Amino acid sequence: MKKVLGLLCIIFITLTVFLVWKQNKSEPKNPYLEKGYTEEEVRKIETLNEANQSYLLETDYQSNILEYLSATDFKEENLKEYIRLGLLYGLSIEDTMYIVNHQYNDIETYDAKTVAFMHEPYYIHEYLERYLNYSNNHQDFETSSVITNVNSNLDYAFYTQDYTVDLDKRYLILVNKYYKLSSDYVPDNLVTIEAKYGKSLSLESTVYEQYKLMWNAAKQEGLNLYICSPYRSYSTQLGLYNNYVAQDGKVAADTYSARAGYSEHQTGLAFDVITPTSTLATFQYTKEFEWIKVHAHEYGFILRYPEGKEYLTGYVYEPWHYRYVGVDVATKIYETGLTYEEYYAYYVR
Ligand code: DAL
Ligand code: ZN
Repeated sequence: MKKVLGLLCIIFITLTVFLVWKQNKSEPKNPYLEKGYTEEEVRKIETLNEANQSYLLETDYQSNILEYLSATDFKEENLKEYIRLGLLYGLSIEDTMYIVNHQYNDIETYDAKTVAFMHEPYYIHEYLERYLNYSNNHQDFETSSVITNVNSNLDYAFYTQDYTVDLDKRYLILVNKYYKLSSDYVPDNLVTIEAKYGKSLSLESTVYEQYKLMWNAAKQEGLNLYICSPYRSYSTQLGLYNNYVAQDGKVAADTYSARAGYSEHQTGLAFDVITPTSTLATFQYTKEFEWIKVHAHEYGFILRYPEGKEYLTGYVYEPWHYRYVGVDVATKIYETGLTYEEYYAYYVR
Protein backbone atom coordinates (compact mmCIF):
# COMPACT_ATOMS: atom_id res chain seq x y z
CA MET A 1 0.00 0.00 0.00
CA LYS A 2 2.79 2.38 1.03
CA LYS A 3 4.57 1.58 -2.21
CA VAL A 4 1.46 2.41 -4.25
CA LEU A 5 1.02 5.73 -2.42
CA GLY A 6 4.71 6.55 -2.92
CA LEU A 7 4.38 5.81 -6.61
CA LEU A 8 1.26 7.99 -6.95
CA CYS A 9 3.11 10.80 -5.19
CA ILE A 10 6.03 10.54 -7.56
CA ILE A 11 3.67 10.54 -10.57
CA PHE A 12 1.82 13.59 -9.21
CA ILE A 13 5.02 15.55 -8.55
CA THR A 14 6.42 14.65 -11.97
CA LEU A 15 3.20 15.74 -13.67
CA THR A 16 3.14 19.06 -11.79
CA VAL A 17 6.78 19.77 -12.62
CA PHE A 18 6.10 18.90 -16.26
CA LEU A 19 3.05 21.19 -16.46
CA VAL A 20 4.85 24.15 -14.83
CA TRP A 21 7.79 23.62 -17.16
CA LYS A 22 5.47 23.51 -20.20
CA GLN A 23 3.65 26.65 -19.12
CA ASN A 24 6.92 28.59 -18.82
CA LYS A 25 8.17 27.27 -22.10
CA SER A 26 5.01 28.35 -24.07
CA GLU A 27 4.72 31.56 -26.12
CA PRO A 28 4.86 34.86 -24.14
CA LYS A 29 1.38 36.23 -23.39
CA ASN A 30 -0.09 38.87 -25.76
CA PRO A 31 0.79 42.28 -24.23
CA TYR A 32 -2.71 43.65 -24.82
CA LEU A 33 -4.23 40.64 -23.10
CA GLU A 34 -1.84 41.32 -20.24
CA LYS A 35 -3.14 44.90 -20.08
CA GLY A 36 -6.65 43.57 -19.66
CA TYR A 37 -8.00 43.75 -23.21
CA THR A 38 -10.28 40.93 -24.28
CA GLU A 39 -9.52 38.64 -27.22
CA GLU A 40 -12.09 40.55 -29.29
CA GLU A 41 -10.52 43.91 -28.41
CA VAL A 42 -7.08 42.60 -29.23
CA ARG A 43 -8.22 41.40 -32.65
CA LYS A 44 -9.46 44.92 -33.41
CA ILE A 45 -6.39 46.64 -31.95
CA GLU A 46 -4.14 44.49 -34.10
CA THR A 47 -5.77 45.94 -37.23
CA LEU A 48 -4.56 49.45 -36.25
CA ASN A 49 -1.41 51.10 -37.56
CA GLU A 50 1.82 50.68 -35.64
CA ALA A 51 1.73 54.09 -34.00
CA ASN A 52 -1.72 53.47 -32.54
CA GLN A 53 -0.79 49.97 -31.44
CA SER A 54 2.23 51.28 -29.56
CA TYR A 55 0.18 54.10 -28.09
CA LEU A 56 -2.31 51.61 -26.70
CA LEU A 57 0.55 49.67 -25.18
CA GLU A 58 1.86 52.80 -23.45
CA THR A 59 -1.49 53.89 -22.05
CA ASP A 60 -3.76 52.33 -19.48
CA TYR A 61 -6.48 49.89 -20.46
CA GLN A 62 -9.19 51.79 -22.39
CA SER A 63 -12.51 50.22 -21.48
CA ASN A 64 -14.33 51.87 -24.40
CA ILE A 65 -11.84 51.01 -27.11
CA LEU A 66 -14.32 48.82 -29.01
CA GLU A 67 -16.87 51.63 -29.11
CA TYR A 68 -14.31 53.94 -30.72
CA LEU A 69 -13.04 51.35 -33.15
CA SER A 70 -16.50 50.24 -34.24
CA ALA A 71 -18.02 53.73 -34.68
CA THR A 72 -18.86 54.61 -38.28
CA ASP A 73 -17.10 57.98 -38.03
CA PHE A 74 -13.96 56.54 -36.43
CA LYS A 75 -10.85 58.08 -37.98
CA GLU A 76 -7.70 56.19 -37.23
CA GLU A 77 -5.51 59.31 -37.28
CA ASN A 78 -7.63 60.75 -34.44
CA LEU A 79 -7.52 57.83 -32.03
CA LYS A 80 -4.94 59.35 -29.71
CA GLU A 81 -6.90 62.58 -29.47
CA TYR A 82 -10.22 60.77 -28.82
CA ILE A 83 -8.60 59.07 -25.87
CA ARG A 84 -6.92 62.23 -24.57
CA LEU A 85 -10.07 64.35 -24.78
CA GLY A 86 -12.37 61.62 -23.49
CA LEU A 87 -10.14 61.13 -20.47
CA LEU A 88 -9.83 64.86 -19.74
CA TYR A 89 -13.47 65.84 -19.88
CA GLY A 90 -15.45 62.67 -19.42
CA LEU A 91 -17.34 63.44 -22.64
CA SER A 92 -19.44 60.76 -24.29
CA ILE A 93 -17.82 58.74 -27.07
CA GLU A 94 -20.13 60.38 -29.60
CA ASP A 95 -19.28 63.94 -28.47
CA THR A 96 -15.58 63.21 -28.21
CA MET A 97 -15.44 61.83 -31.73
CA TYR A 98 -17.55 64.68 -33.11
CA ILE A 99 -15.34 67.33 -31.52
CA VAL A 100 -12.08 65.76 -32.66
CA ASN A 101 -13.29 64.89 -36.17
CA HIS A 102 -14.40 68.49 -36.64
CA GLN A 103 -11.17 69.86 -35.13
CA TYR A 104 -12.95 71.60 -32.27
CA ASN A 105 -10.56 70.04 -29.75
CA ASP A 106 -8.47 73.11 -28.96
CA ILE A 107 -10.54 74.81 -26.30
CA GLU A 108 -9.96 74.73 -22.57
CA THR A 109 -13.26 73.53 -21.17
CA TYR A 110 -16.27 71.73 -22.52
CA ASP A 111 -19.69 71.84 -20.97
CA ALA A 112 -23.09 70.72 -22.24
CA LYS A 113 -23.82 74.12 -23.78
CA THR A 114 -20.52 74.32 -25.59
CA VAL A 115 -20.95 70.83 -26.97
CA ALA A 116 -24.55 71.57 -28.02
CA PHE A 117 -23.31 74.55 -30.05
CA MET A 118 -20.69 72.37 -31.72
CA HIS A 119 -23.36 69.98 -32.92
CA GLU A 120 -25.34 72.74 -34.65
CA PRO A 121 -25.07 72.49 -38.45
CA TYR A 122 -23.99 76.11 -38.91
CA TYR A 123 -21.61 76.30 -35.94
CA ILE A 124 -18.47 78.36 -36.63
CA HIS A 125 -15.66 77.48 -34.24
CA GLU A 126 -14.16 80.97 -34.20
CA TYR A 127 -17.48 82.35 -32.93
CA LEU A 128 -17.75 80.09 -29.87
CA GLU A 129 -17.03 82.87 -27.39
CA ARG A 130 -19.67 85.06 -29.07
CA TYR A 131 -22.27 82.25 -29.02
CA LEU A 132 -21.67 81.75 -25.31
CA ASN A 133 -21.91 85.48 -24.52
CA TYR A 134 -24.99 85.92 -26.67
CA SER A 135 -26.75 82.96 -25.13
CA ASN A 136 -25.95 84.24 -21.63
CA ASN A 137 -27.66 87.49 -22.56
CA HIS A 138 -30.58 85.70 -24.25
CA GLN A 139 -31.25 82.74 -21.97
CA ASP A 140 -34.60 81.98 -23.60
CA PHE A 141 -33.12 81.53 -27.11
CA GLU A 142 -32.78 78.07 -28.61
CA THR A 143 -29.24 76.95 -29.45
CA SER A 144 -29.99 77.11 -33.17
CA SER A 145 -31.24 80.71 -32.90
CA VAL A 146 -28.10 81.74 -31.06
CA ILE A 147 -26.02 80.29 -33.90
CA THR A 148 -28.13 81.92 -36.62
CA ASN A 149 -28.16 85.30 -34.95
CA VAL A 150 -24.48 85.45 -34.09
CA ASN A 151 -23.54 84.19 -37.57
CA SER A 152 -25.50 87.16 -38.89
CA ASN A 153 -23.71 89.48 -36.40
CA LEU A 154 -26.86 90.27 -34.44
CA ASP A 155 -24.84 90.20 -31.23
CA TYR A 156 -23.69 93.64 -32.40
CA ALA A 157 -26.16 96.45 -33.07
CA PHE A 158 -26.71 97.48 -36.69
CA TYR A 159 -24.29 100.10 -38.00
CA THR A 160 -21.80 99.60 -35.16
CA GLN A 161 -19.14 97.55 -36.95
CA ASP A 162 -18.48 98.92 -40.45
CA TYR A 163 -16.55 95.89 -41.67
CA THR A 164 -14.93 96.59 -45.00
CA VAL A 165 -16.61 94.79 -47.87
CA ASP A 166 -14.24 92.13 -49.17
CA LEU A 167 -14.31 92.99 -52.86
CA ASP A 168 -12.19 89.96 -53.76
CA LYS A 169 -15.29 87.88 -53.17
CA ARG A 170 -16.72 89.43 -56.34
CA TYR A 171 -20.27 88.14 -56.87
CA LEU A 172 -20.30 86.86 -53.31
CA ILE A 173 -19.60 90.10 -51.47
CA LEU A 174 -21.81 90.97 -48.55
CA VAL A 175 -23.12 94.49 -48.12
CA ASN A 176 -25.49 95.10 -45.22
CA LYS A 177 -25.78 97.00 -41.95
CA TYR A 178 -22.40 95.62 -40.86
CA TYR A 179 -20.47 95.63 -44.14
CA LYS A 180 -19.87 99.00 -45.74
CA LEU A 181 -18.71 100.15 -49.16
CA SER A 182 -16.52 103.23 -49.44
CA SER A 183 -18.14 106.37 -50.80
CA ASP A 184 -16.00 106.23 -53.94
CA TYR A 185 -16.72 102.59 -54.76
CA VAL A 186 -18.09 102.15 -58.25
CA PRO A 187 -18.29 98.62 -59.68
CA ASP A 188 -16.38 97.70 -62.83
CA ASN A 189 -18.24 96.75 -65.97
CA LEU A 190 -21.38 98.78 -65.53
CA VAL A 191 -23.56 98.60 -68.65
CA THR A 192 -26.69 100.49 -69.58
CA ILE A 193 -30.01 98.66 -69.54
CA GLU A 194 -31.96 98.65 -72.82
CA ALA A 195 -35.39 100.22 -72.62
CA LYS A 196 -37.44 97.03 -72.95
CA TYR A 197 -35.77 95.46 -69.90
CA GLY A 198 -36.09 98.39 -67.54
CA LYS A 199 -35.14 102.00 -66.85
CA SER A 200 -32.08 103.09 -68.78
CA LEU A 201 -29.80 103.01 -65.80
CA SER A 202 -26.91 100.59 -65.24
CA LEU A 203 -26.06 97.13 -63.91
CA GLU A 204 -22.88 95.04 -63.74
CA SER A 205 -22.47 93.30 -67.11
CA THR A 206 -22.74 89.62 -66.02
CA VAL A 207 -25.71 90.48 -63.87
CA TYR A 208 -27.33 92.19 -66.84
CA GLU A 209 -26.71 89.17 -69.11
CA GLN A 210 -28.26 86.85 -66.53
CA TYR A 211 -31.17 89.22 -66.04
CA LYS A 212 -31.83 89.24 -69.80
CA LEU A 213 -31.93 85.43 -69.82
CA MET A 214 -34.43 85.54 -66.98
CA TRP A 215 -36.43 88.29 -68.69
CA ASN A 216 -36.66 86.18 -71.87
CA ALA A 217 -37.68 83.04 -69.99
CA ALA A 218 -40.43 85.02 -68.27
CA LYS A 219 -41.46 86.49 -71.63
CA GLN A 220 -41.90 82.96 -73.02
CA GLU A 221 -44.50 82.48 -70.32
CA GLY A 222 -46.26 85.72 -71.31
CA LEU A 223 -44.78 87.62 -68.37
CA ASN A 224 -43.15 91.04 -68.36
CA LEU A 225 -40.38 92.02 -66.00
CA TYR A 226 -39.12 95.57 -65.68
CA ILE A 227 -36.18 96.87 -63.63
CA CYS A 228 -37.11 100.10 -61.92
CA SER A 229 -33.96 100.58 -59.85
CA PRO A 230 -30.60 98.90 -60.57
CA TYR A 231 -27.15 100.36 -59.70
CA ARG A 232 -27.27 103.40 -57.45
CA SER A 233 -24.20 105.46 -56.67
CA TYR A 234 -23.25 106.40 -53.11
CA SER A 235 -24.58 109.90 -53.63
CA THR A 236 -27.86 108.70 -55.13
CA GLN A 237 -28.34 106.44 -52.11
CA LEU A 238 -27.48 109.30 -49.76
CA GLY A 239 -30.14 111.50 -51.37
CA LEU A 240 -32.72 108.71 -51.30
CA TYR A 241 -32.12 107.84 -47.68
CA ASN A 242 -32.18 111.46 -46.58
CA ASN A 243 -35.51 111.96 -48.36
CA TYR A 244 -36.97 108.94 -46.58
CA VAL A 245 -35.70 110.21 -43.24
CA ALA A 246 -37.29 113.60 -43.92
CA GLN A 247 -40.51 111.88 -44.90
CA ASP A 248 -40.83 109.09 -42.30
CA GLY A 249 -38.15 109.70 -39.67
CA LYS A 250 -34.89 107.85 -39.19
CA VAL A 251 -36.23 104.81 -37.32
CA ALA A 252 -38.80 104.03 -40.02
CA ALA A 253 -36.42 104.85 -42.90
CA ASP A 254 -33.86 102.40 -41.50
CA THR A 255 -36.36 99.54 -41.84
CA TYR A 256 -36.64 99.87 -45.61
CA SER A 257 -33.78 102.02 -46.91
CA ALA A 258 -30.05 101.51 -46.60
CA ARG A 259 -27.84 104.33 -45.45
CA ALA A 260 -25.29 105.46 -48.04
CA GLY A 261 -22.44 102.93 -48.32
CA TYR A 262 -24.58 100.10 -46.95
CA SER A 263 -26.81 99.53 -49.97
CA GLU A 264 -26.49 96.53 -52.26
CA HIS A 265 -27.57 98.79 -55.08
CA GLN A 266 -24.11 100.40 -54.95
CA THR A 267 -22.60 97.03 -55.91
CA GLY A 268 -24.31 96.89 -59.33
CA LEU A 269 -25.24 93.30 -58.43
CA ALA A 270 -28.77 94.04 -57.24
CA PHE A 271 -31.91 95.55 -58.70
CA ASP A 272 -35.54 96.23 -57.93
CA VAL A 273 -37.83 94.58 -60.46
CA ILE A 274 -41.55 95.07 -61.04
CA THR A 275 -43.77 94.84 -64.14
CA PRO A 276 -44.42 97.72 -66.55
CA THR A 277 -47.83 98.16 -64.94
CA SER A 278 -47.16 97.44 -61.25
CA THR A 279 -45.53 99.39 -58.46
CA LEU A 280 -43.16 98.16 -55.75
CA ALA A 281 -46.16 97.79 -53.48
CA THR A 282 -48.30 95.79 -55.94
CA PHE A 283 -45.57 93.64 -57.51
CA GLN A 284 -46.10 90.85 -54.98
CA TYR A 285 -49.64 90.31 -56.29
CA THR A 286 -48.59 89.80 -59.92
CA LYS A 287 -48.07 86.59 -61.93
CA GLU A 288 -44.56 87.85 -62.58
CA PHE A 289 -43.80 87.69 -58.87
CA GLU A 290 -45.23 84.17 -58.61
CA TRP A 291 -42.88 83.19 -61.43
CA ILE A 292 -39.70 85.00 -60.35
CA LYS A 293 -40.04 83.70 -56.79
CA VAL A 294 -39.46 80.14 -57.99
CA HIS A 295 -37.23 80.76 -61.02
CA ALA A 296 -34.86 83.58 -60.04
CA HIS A 297 -32.27 81.14 -58.65
CA GLU A 298 -32.01 79.39 -62.04
CA TYR A 299 -30.42 82.60 -63.32
CA GLY A 300 -28.29 83.22 -60.21
CA PHE A 301 -30.59 85.59 -58.32
CA ILE A 302 -31.88 85.49 -54.77
CA LEU A 303 -34.78 87.26 -53.13
CA ARG A 304 -32.53 89.18 -50.81
CA TYR A 305 -34.94 90.38 -48.10
CA PRO A 306 -37.39 87.55 -47.48
CA GLU A 307 -40.52 87.63 -45.37
CA GLY A 308 -39.99 86.57 -41.76
CA LYS A 309 -36.24 87.23 -41.86
CA GLU A 310 -36.39 90.97 -41.25
CA TYR A 311 -34.50 90.66 -37.96
CA LEU A 312 -31.57 89.03 -39.80
CA THR A 313 -31.39 91.12 -42.95
CA GLY A 314 -32.26 94.36 -41.17
CA TYR A 315 -34.94 95.21 -43.74
CA VAL A 316 -38.64 94.66 -44.23
CA TYR A 317 -39.78 92.10 -46.79
CA GLU A 318 -38.90 93.30 -50.31
CA PRO A 319 -40.52 91.04 -52.95
CA TRP A 320 -38.92 93.21 -55.65
CA HIS A 321 -35.24 93.25 -54.63
CA TYR A 322 -33.00 90.57 -56.24
CA ARG A 323 -29.29 90.08 -55.87
CA TYR A 324 -26.96 88.16 -58.18
CA VAL A 325 -24.79 85.50 -56.49
CA GLY A 326 -24.41 82.96 -59.34
CA VAL A 327 -26.57 79.95 -60.12
CA ASP A 328 -25.01 77.43 -57.70
CA VAL A 329 -25.14 79.68 -54.66
CA ALA A 330 -28.59 81.03 -55.53
CA THR A 331 -29.87 77.47 -55.87
CA LYS A 332 -28.41 76.46 -52.54
CA ILE A 333 -29.92 79.52 -50.85
CA TYR A 334 -33.28 78.87 -52.53
CA GLU A 335 -33.25 75.25 -51.38
CA THR A 336 -32.06 75.85 -47.82
CA GLY A 337 -34.05 79.02 -47.14
CA LEU A 338 -30.97 80.66 -45.63
CA THR A 339 -30.62 84.44 -45.79
CA TYR A 340 -27.51 85.75 -47.52
CA GLU A 341 -26.27 86.92 -44.11
CA GLU A 342 -26.30 83.31 -42.87
CA TYR A 343 -24.94 81.85 -46.10
CA TYR A 344 -22.08 84.34 -46.16
CA ALA A 345 -21.03 83.63 -42.58
CA TYR A 346 -21.00 79.91 -43.06
CA TYR A 347 -19.83 79.37 -46.62
CA VAL A 348 -18.19 82.55 -47.94
CA ARG A 349 -16.42 84.47 -45.19
N1 DAL B 1 -34.05 98.98 -49.95
C1 DAL B 1 -32.73 98.44 -49.84
C2 DAL B 1 -32.51 97.79 -48.51
C3 DAL B 1 -31.67 99.48 -50.08
O1 DAL B 1 -31.95 100.63 -49.83
O2 DAL B 1 -30.61 99.11 -50.49
ZN1 ZN C 1 -33.62 97.28 -53.81
